[in-house]
Amino acid sequence: MENIESKCGKIKEELETRLANVSDLKTLEEVRIEFFGKSGKITLLVGDIRNVPNEQKKKYGELTNATKEYAIAYFDDKKAVLDHLALVAEQQNSTAYDMSVPSKKKVGSLHPVTIVANEFSEIFKSMGFIVEQGNEIETEYNNFEALRIGKDHPARDMQDTFYLEDGRVLVTHTSSAQNRIYKQYGAPVRAIFPGRSYRNEDVDATHDVSFFQLEGILVDENITVANLLYFMKSVFSKAFGREIEVRLRPYFFPFTEPSFEVDVKCIYCGDTPCKVCKETTWIELAGCGMIHPEVLEMGGIDSKKYRGFAFGMGLTRFATLKYGIKDIRELHNLNFLKQFGLK
Ligand code: PHE
Repeated sequence: MENIESKCGKIKEELETRLANVSDLKTLEEVRIEFFGKSGKITLLVGDIRNVPNEQKKKYGELTNATKEYAIAYFDDKKAVLDHLALVAEQQNSTAYDMSVPSKKKVGSLHPVTIVANEFSEIFKSMGFIVEQGNEIETEYNNFEALRIGKDHPARDMQDTFYLEDGRVLVTHTSSAQNRIYKQYGAPVRAIFPGRSYRNEDVDATHDVSFFQLEGILVDENITVANLLYFMKSVFSKAFGREIEVRLRPYFFPFTEPSFEVDVKCIYCGDTPCKVCKETTWIELAGCGMIHPEVLEMGGIDSKKYRGFAFGMGLTRFATLKYGIKDIRELHNLNFLKQFGLK
């Protein structure tokens, strides 16, 4: 019996070594015959029970059958791997695919926010602005302090701001890039920086935890509010493709003085006031103002010589208005977004 145990062990080992070197189905078939064929090693081993004395037959049967089962399972595993590899190879060599044939279906589309961001970028570029990019993660300094948003300003509240463990923040507005841009370019400078902002809000049809803004700065000598007003009017007229009436409403931002909100005359109202503007006939589209001299100084710009204005437009808001999207959450819905397919 000891003899048969070591015989079984040896055959298992032999099979394992043989299979380890097999890498194609043809050789695998040879191994199958060698072990499981009519006069294969396992077949003979099991069949040899005939020559075993009766009192040992039970034990012999158990041992050899267990060896056979193990061997079959081992062999089948190897076969499954090689079958799979053969299938992959066949697909790769297959003439059923011609990778160079152009696809009939156009896949992919630009997101509505990307579309309006691109449109605005073109408008600003034509007005001599450079297009920059801000960071989505910023220091508290850049997001708040460099914009005169003090330590106890409500905007810093945990309710609004997403803080990282290291104390940095997910930017709450694109103004967070202002300081870096001042330091990088000095004055005079004209730059826009579209980007994503984050606020810890309850999500509903008009609020999201993340939305896109487009920030712009223009710093030069002799810049006044009159320039700002004229500028906003030109930009929105270009964006809507026709002359647009614009008004500045006094507002407060810590980083601009004076500060305003920019409204455009509702483009959807016909003869009667409409729902889009909540029947006010004006739509708020941006915050803006004359950059506070301290903000310029923190950016290394001489505020006695230079003045400037800054504005922050809601790109997400603009996109929903432009395309008549009622619920901001649709901007994450791939099925909904399909309609913006590439032309
Ligand atoms: N950062 C302001 C906001 O998110 C917008 C703004 C930008 C206002 C630049 C003035 C100047 O609401």
